[in-house]
This record gives sequence, structure tokens and C-alpha cells, in this order.
Amino acid sequence: MRILFIGDIVGSMGRDTLEDYLPRLRRKYDVDVVIANGENAAAGRGITKSIFQSLLHMGVDVVTMGNHTWDQKEIMDFIDDTDYLIRPANFSEDAPGKGMTSISKNGHTISVINMHGRTFLPPHDDPFKMATEMVSEAKKLSPIVFVDFHAEATSEKIAFGWHLDGKASVVVGTHTHVQTADSRILPGGTAYITDVGMTGPYDGVLGMKKEDVLYRFQTNMPTRFEVPKEGRSVLSGFFVEVDNTTGKAIHQERIYINEDYPFKG
Ligand SMILES: [Fe+2]
Ligand SMILES: [Fe+2]
Repeated sequence: MRILFIGDIVGSMGRDTLEDYLPRLRRKYDVDVVIANGENAAAGRGITKSIFQSLLHMGVDVVTMGNHTWDQKEIMDFIDDTDYLIRPANFSEDAPGKGMTSISKNGHTISVINMHGRTFLPPHDDPFKMATEMVSEAKKLSPIVFVDFHAEATSEKIAFGWHLDGKASVVVGTHTHVQTADSRILPGGTAYITDVGMTGPYDGVLGMKKEDVLYRFQTNMPTRFEVPKEGRSVLSGFFVEVDNTTGKAIHQERIYINEDYPFKG
């Protein structure tokens, strides 16, 4: 199975950038399934029903979330109506939605799990223990298992990658919005990257207007960060090919497209 993952889509510029490149990425990588992190898709904060539907319309198959899951309150009204929008599994048991889903594409089934880190982040249930249980549950259905670990600390993410090596097919980190150069296939056959990076404004600070962030850093005054609506953009992604029988990764490639690193077909 050929899997394309798109890192945190930020605002309308992120959605437009994805729409622009997705057909070309599909052709280049002969993609079977597209997974995208949508926690910042609505002006940097959460996701709305119409934005979720527009991502599906573009060709995204499964959307994962993160710490911004509940920023748009309306998500609570529709997250239980779809199988293709998941939120971190280690949120409260009482939270709406679910942390794992599966989808069949071109004759093969993939399970997608979303998990949240807890270093420099609010306390959630143990992602390590829960991931072990969920991955073995998913493997009853199919050997192909994808995990989006939404976390801050590189150490926690790397540890989590090792924890699932040989168990999951792919472990991607999201949340920091900066792509790391450490993608590889771990010895057990798990494709891994500490952070995929973001898709959206290229000239801001993690997707927000640089002026707003600079003001906050220099004054410590409360500032509402906004996502720029125009300017240069970046697309960050991760492509993995997985053996359908063993569930092990056989090829991985980082995708990073912007004016400095143009798309190569
Ligand atoms: Fe994000
Ligand atoms: Fe995040």
C-alpha cells in the first residue's frame, strides 16, 4: 500500500496549497490512501464540518487531529457521524469521537491511529500503553497500521517510534510544524519521522503571521495570532510504501515543497 501523509494543514492557505499539489503528488507516488492532519485547518484552530468535507472532496481519506481538536466547537456535533475524522485516542474516555479508524483502498485495509504526547503538553492517558493495545487490536484486521503521534518533545516522539518499531507500519510525528530531517525505516520495519511539518503559510511563524508572534515575544502582551491569507506557501508530507503482507515499510520519502524547494515531478 502506498500511503501519503500531509502534515498539519494551516488555514485557507494550507487547504489551497494541498488542493494545488495533491493531484501531482498522487500521480508522482501512485498513492492508494491519503491521510492528513487537520487540527489547524480552520484559520489555524480546529476544523469545521464544511472544511472537513472539502478535504474529503480534495481526495483526503482520513483526517487526524491534535491539541486543537476542540477549538471549533461544532466538531462535537459531527465527529461521531463520520469514520474518517479521528482525534487522539488518549483523550478523556468521555470525549466525543474516536482515536482509531480503518479504511480499505484498492483491495487493502489500513488502520489509522491518532495519539497525543504528554511532555510539555496537558496530561493525557499513557500513549505508550494505549498504542500497544490499539496496534495489536488493529492488526487483527490488517497488518497495515499508521500512527500519527501528535507531540511536542522530539525525545518523546523518538521514544514512541522505537516503542512501536516492528509493530506499526508507519509512525509520524506532528504538532511542531517544522519538518525534521530524520525520516527512516527503523530496524523492525516501521517508517518513522519525528515531525512531518506543516502545510500552509511559508513566511510566518509555524503558520501564524510573523508580526503577531514577534510582538508577543517582545512585549509578553496578549496577542491574537492570525493566519496570513496570502503569500508564499509550503507543503510538508511523508510518503511510505508498505508491504501488504508483512505490514512492514519498504520505502519512505520526505516531501517538502515551497519556493526554495520546488516540486519535482
Ligand atoms: Fe498543528
Ligand atoms: Fe498541535
